[in-house]
Amino acid sequence: MNNYNYCVPTDIRFGKGQVECLAEEIGKVGKKVLLVYGGGSIKKTGLYDKIYDVLKGFEIFELPGIEPNPKLSSVRKGAAICKENGINAVLAVGGGSTIDASKHIACSAFYDGDPWDLVLDKTKAVKALPVFTVLTICATGSEMNPGAVISNEETKEKLEINTPILYPKLSVCDPTYLFTLPPRQTAAGTADIISHIFEQYFQPNDGAYITDRLSEAALKTCFKYGPVAMKEPDNYEARSNLMWTSSIALNHLFTFGKGGAWSVHPIEHELSAFYDITHGEGLAILTPKWMRYVLSDATVKRFATYARNVWNVQNTDDYEAANEGIDKTEQFFKELGLPSTLGEVGIDDSQLSKMAAEAVRTSGLSDRAYVKLSAEDVEKIYRMCL
Ligand code: NZQ
Ligand code: ZN
Repeated sequence: MNNYNYCVPTDIRFGKGQVECLAEEIGKVGKKVLLVYGGGSIKKTGLYDKIYDVLKGFEIFELPGIEPNPKLSSVRKGAAICKENGINAVLAVGGGSTIDASKHIACSAFYDGDPWDLVLDKTKAVKALPVFTVLTICATGSEMNPGAVISNEETKEKLEINTPILYPKLSVCDPTYLFTLPPRQTAAGTADIISHIFEQYFQPNDGAYITDRLSEAALKTCFKYGPVAMKEPDNYEARSNLMWTSSIALNHLFTFGKGGAWSVHPIEHELSAFYDITHGEGLAILTPKWMRYVLSDATVKRFATYARNVWNVQNTDDYEAANEGIDKTEQFFKELGLPSTLGEVGIDDSQLSKMAAEAVRTSGLSDRAYVKLSAEDVEKIYRMCL
């Protein structure tokens, strides 16, 4: 196992009714709150009213309308509200997009220049307002990690700012808030969780046995409960298992003792930067193709282990077992109703080489990934998805 530092300071409040804790916990840092939320789902579900009920006596400012793939312009608006009103805490109610925008706002509140500077140079992010979250879609793990992915609509860049000051202070994870998630978002979120686990499972170090077995258990949880949550949206057991899996899938527990750059995420981020597609759908399209592209004598053992330990594949030939595992993964995404080609999400071949070059330029794909990929490789993977 590699040396590893592990410190996750986020206070998780998991289960029914946990939202009630917000008054006491936010009250410890002040009474002026910026409430950040998306396109309106929290109003339809009644959560918005509940938040106002719980936070009686607080002075609440609002930033609604955070878009999926949150935009820099929203961050700028939020940072201005914080500066003008002396906000004490940012409360994100929603999914990864709302939480990521809130984190970026929280550190931009203490920065005099443009928020995008902090994405390009995270050493400029030295202080942040405390961020509280109420999670309504389980996917990104943003509720328990220090990352925030922001899209710059002017430059078509989608980049991450990642620094320990951005860990949420407290996250409310109540699985009943997931009951209203439409099937499409449930499927995309599940694909995202699965991809986070893959990104850490398929890394160069083979000596972190405990980490890999934990990852396999988390993958099995997604494969078991994803379809249940699709068919029975209010199945508490399914929603709660997926919700906790999303948090631990990206709080770096599954990288413990490993390390290396991610593979499919940087390739996907270009798709959502250029075409504003749903992140989890992009991952579902790319993942099986990436797996087929990187399968070789050097990687076949790990793919065969994945197939045997996660899918119970019995085949004793490593290549055949590996391919069965990849087939099952692809089939799983199709059964969740996720797209399997770029054409299905409106992407043609016109920008592929540009996106491939950007994917490599903005990530560790070419020097630290499980299988190192050049821009040419990435373009070939895109073409396999057409
Ligand atoms: O905007 P509203 O109206 O709230 O609707 C949202 C949105 O349209 C809807 N939704 C959320 N909860 C709901 C609900 N609808 C009904 N009932 C509910 N309970 O779902 C839609 C998607 O929400 P969004 O927040 O965009 O989804 P997600 O959590 O998948 O976040 C995606 C963003 O996170 C980034 C992605 O790139 C993308 O920008 N990521 C963030 C990461 C991180 N911070 O660590 C890592 C990830 O790999 C990812 O890159
Ligand atoms: Zn993701």
